[in-house]
Amino acid sequence: MAGRKARIVRRDSPSNDMAERKIIGGRIVRFRIVDSTNEKARELLDESPEEGTVIVADRQAAGRGRHGRAWSSPPGGLYLSIILTPPEKNVHLLSLLSGLPTRRAMKPFGVDAALKWPNDLNVGGKKIGGILCEGIHRRDEFRAIVGIGVNTAVEIRALSADVRTEATTLKHEAGREIDNDEFLEGLLNEYDAFYAGYEAGNIGPLLAEYRATCSTLGRRVVIETAKGRVRGTARDVNDLGALVVEERGRRHEVFEGTVQRIE
Ligand code: BTN
Repeated sequence: MAGRKARIVRRDSPSNDMAERKIIGGRIVRFRIVDSTNEKARELLDESPEEGTVIVADRQAAGRGRHGRAWSSPPGGLYLSIILTPPEKNVHLLSLLSGLPTRRAMKPFGVDAALKWPNDLNVGGKKIGGILCEGIHRRDEFRAIVGIGVNTAVEIRALSADVRTEATTLKHEAGREIDNDEFLEGLLNEYDAFYAGYEAGNIGPLLAEYRATCSTLGRRVVIETAKGRVRGTARDVNDLGALVVEERGRRHEVFEGTVQRIE
């Protein structure tokens, strides 16, 4: 990926830094605080931003998670959205696989995160990051906004006792200070490499990597879906990104849902 390295420029107001061209992070727009970087990205679509434009904020006042949940966004966390133009039929896989570059970016910090289907990032069973991918039609064009939130330099003490039973932070897991700009730079470079493979249609190796790092596989799960509850053993993630759940010989393919419980 020589010549496609992200360069992070800190600004107090939105910036249009085009000095180094690469797909992901060719333009990085920074904010101190926004409601939600996904919302800012959506607003920016009116300006026809080029693919790979990234919105980053130090804080979010109304961060959003999957299924309409709130995403707590305390200072020290990393909150970003990437604007992409993938084929619409592939957006489900993009959402699923975007956990891969995010977990790869944690490795230099000595943290080996697992993916909980579909795209939660967990360490030791506790959530360290998540992804909210939204597809939008604007001016006859399909765009995807990939929102990534990671508890990077968040103090573990800043999480309430309740939250601490379910969530962790990179700083805590790495046992050292985290420079968010350093993490962001690594993440954008990993995402760039990932997206090059994704765009080229090299989905097979990406799915293989996903299966190898998905902690849900082989476990008994209870999943809440729009159509009801699915219970059984998670056997596979198929080529379309659906979780294959088996119960007494019956196989269910679950495309969207929340794993409520791993038994
Ligand atoms: C989830 O696990 O529920 C997904 C969380 C996604 C959070 C990120 S933070 C940056 C972007 N902006 C948002 O409002 N949400 C995503």
